[in-house]
Amino acid sequence: MLQLRQIEASYDGSRILRGIDLTVQPGEVVCLMGRNGVGKTTTLRTIVGHVRADTGSVELDGRRLDGLRPEERARLGLGYVPQGRDIFPTLTVAENLQIGAVAQGKDYRADLDRVLDLFPVLKEMLTRRGGVLSGGQQQQLAIGRALLTSPKILLLDEPTEGIQPNIIDQIGDTIRKLRTDGLDHNFAAEINDAIRKLRAERRIGILLVEQYFDFCVEVGDRFYILDRGAVVANGPIQDLHQESVKRHLTV
Ligand SMILES: Nc1ncnc2c1ncn2[C@@H]1O[C@H](COP(=O)(O)OP(=O)(O)O)[C@@H](O)[C@H]1O
Ligand SMILES: [Mg+2]
Repeated sequence: MLQLRQIEASYDGSRILRGIDLTVQPGEVVCLMGRNGVGKTTTLRTIVGHVRADTGSVELDGRRLDGLRPEERARLGLGYVPQGRDIFPTLTVAENLQIGAVAQGKDYRADLDRVLDLFPVLKEMLTRRGGVLSGGQQQQLAIGRALLTSPKILLLDEPTEGIQPNIIDQIGDTIRKLRTDGLDHNFAAEINDAIRKLRAERRIGILLVEQYFDFCVEVGDRFYILDRGAVVANGPIQDLHQESVKRHLTV
């Protein structure tokens, strides 16, 4: 289990996170929601060690992570897919998939088929350079790479960002996809699908930063809503109602 207790964090002396308590159990999908700028990404960066907490603790399976370097935290079981596309454009898809696990000295081979089943589009593109993939495909590649490090907890920062609203990207995706298998694809739906499959396996916990209400309701077990660096609502996903979301999520 991942457990945050009273986490406070700052940038340049200005307080961003104000006492965050949050847990992610193995096998559950927890949605971290909130408007732009409330501290969602900072929360993930504090968990993985890119930002040092001022006070509070981060524990993974009872072990304090505070003070450990990001690489050490990753090796202990945190898989992090940052916001935006974080792949190596000149490496092949296969190399991009392997690189995280190789850097950690982990054997990824047993899990490779499983990841390719989760993201079939990657299977067709293993020898292509990462840079030629569409936005949605690059996001799938980044998630696949994190999964190959056998994380206990997977941290996803807005995996649908830039997919749904980016029409140019979507058109490109659709045209390429039409060419290969004649199907019209919604690429945010593919990531949704993958998260649901991972959830069904109930092996890893997922902390999903997501702004889309519908997406959270479809894939989540529990939710937290952040506002100005504090948790203002949380509970089972069934309790996530449009009204409370409107209060905290719309501008
Ligand atoms: N590297 C940084 N240096 C200084 N301020 C930052 C930095 N990153 C984010 N911030 C500020 O911290 C606040 C929270 O940002 P962030 O965690 O990225 O929000 P969210 O992910 O919820 O949109 C914002 O006001 C943002 O401007
Ligand atoms: Mg963010």
